[in-house]
Amino acid sequence: MTYLEIEGANQLSGKVEISGAKNAALPLIVSSILAKNEVNISNVPNVADIKTLIHLLQNLGTKTEFKNHNLVLDTSSLNKTIAKYDIVRKMRASILTLGPLLARFKNCEVSLPGGCAIGQRPIDLHLLALEKMGANIQIKQGYVVANGNLKGAEIIFDKITVTGSENIIMAAALAQGKTRLINVAKEPEVVQLCEILKEAGLEISGIGSDELEIYGTNGELLEFKKIAVIPDRIEAGTYLCAGAITNSQITIEKVIPNHLNAVLSKLNQMGFESLIQKDSITLFPAKEIRAVEIITSEYPGFPTDMQAQFMALSLKAKGTSIIDERLFENRFMHVSELLRMGADIKLNGHIATIVGGKELNAADVMATDLRASSALVLAALAAKGTSRVHRIYHLDRGYENLEHKLKILGAKITRLEE
Ligand code: UD1
Repeated sequence: MTYLEIEGANQLSGKVEISGAKNAALPLIVSSILAKNEVNISNVPNVADIKTLIHLLQNLGTKTEFKNHNLVLDTSSLNKTIAKYDIVRKMRASILTLGPLLARFKNCEVSLPGGCAIGQRPIDLHLLALEKMGANIQIKQGYVVANGNLKGAEIIFDKITVTGSENIIMAAALAQGKTRLINVAKEPEVVQLCEILKEAGLEISGIGSDELEIYGTNGELLEFKKIAVIPDRIEAGTYLCAGAITNSQITIEKVIPNHLNAVLSKLNQMGFESLIQKDSITLFPAKEIRAVEIITSEYPGFPTDMQAQFMALSLKAKGTSIIDERLFENRFMHVSELLRMGADIKLNGHIATIVGGKELNAADVMATDLRASSALVLAALAAKGTSRVHRIYHLDRGYENLEHKLKILGAKITRLEE
C-alpha cells in the first residue's frame, strides 16, 4: 500500500493552483442523466471519487471520455437503472443517481450507501422527499427500489442536506408540475447545479437562497450548455492551512475567494492576514497564532469539511481552542492519530478541546477518512522529524496530486510503497 513520508518543520512558499471542486463535479456529472445532448464538463478534478462515479455511469450504459480534466458524457445510450452495491459502496455520493434516474426512467434501484467513518449518514430525507413527489419506495436486499411518475410537491427539509437537496432538485427538474423546496442547502456546489440546470432550460427560481421553485419539464430532457466546475473551496482551505500551520507565506490561485469567507475569517481570528484578489489569495505568516472557537455548520457557516484541518492548525496556537462539530456525530477520527504526534486534545461528545502550543513530533499515523487524512498531512508538515501517513487512498478520493502540489510549495513529501 502507498503511504506519504513527510519531513516536517519546514517552511513553505510559492503558489499553488486549486483544482475543480469534487463535490460540485459529482452532482454535475450525475445531472447528465437529465440531458438530451452530449454534456461537456471542464475543470473536472482527476480524483478517485470522480472516477468511481464515471464508472457507475458507464455501468448504466453512458458513453464517457475523460481527458485533461475534460469530461464528455453521452447518456442517450443509458439503458440500465440499477446502481450496484459494488460501486456505490466505494462512494456515498452515488446516491445522487436516485433522483435523476427515477425522474427519467420512472423506476430504478440504487444500492443503499450505508454508514461511513464519520457517522451513520442516513438518506431518509432524500427518500421522504421523493415519496412526497409520488414515488413508491421500498428497501429490498440493501437497495432502494423506487418507481412512479414524479409530480411537483412542496417539500420542507427537516435538516439541511447537501446531496439531499441536489438529488431532489434533479428529480424535480423532470417531474410534472411545480416543486417548492424549503430549507434547501445553499452550498456553492448546490448553487452551481441550479445554475447549469437553468442554463439548460429549466425554469427555476430562488437560486442561492434556502427556498427554490422548480417547474418540472414533465419528462422532457434538457439541452445542456458547456460547464466549468467551480474551484474546490475545501482543497483551497486545506492549502491555506498548510501555509498557516508552517507559518509561511503562500498563494492559492484559481479560487473564488467569496466561497472561503468563513475559513478566511477564522484564519484572521487566529492572527493570519491575507491579500484577497479576484481569483487568488495570499496568506501571510502570523506574529502569534491565537486559539480559536469553531462551530461547524451549513454554508455560509464554517464547513465541517475543514474541521479536521483547523484542529491540526489549532495545535500550533497559543491557548485553548474549542471545536464544536455539529454536523457529523463521529467526525473526530483524526484525534487519536494527532495524539500520537504529541497533541493535547480532549473529546466530550461533539466538542473537542485543544490545548495548543505543545511540540508536535513525527509519527506513523493512519488516515481514516478524506478530510481527517489531510489533517494528518498538515500536522506532519508542522511536526519535528519524519512522519509517515498510511492508508492514503482516502486522500486520493478528493485531493488531486496532493504531494505534487505540496512539493511545489517546498514541502519535503514523498509517496512510497510499503
Ligand atoms: C455533503 C458533502 C460532504 C460534507 C457534507 C456536509 C458531497 C458529495 N459531500 O455530504 O463532503 O461533509 O455535505 O457539508 O457533497 N442527514 C440526515 N438525513 C438525510 C441526509 C442528511 O439526517 O437524509 C444529516 C446527516 O447525517 C448530517 C447532516 O444531515 O448530519 C448533513 O448531511 P448532508 O448535507 O446530507 O451531507 P452529504 O450530502 O452526505
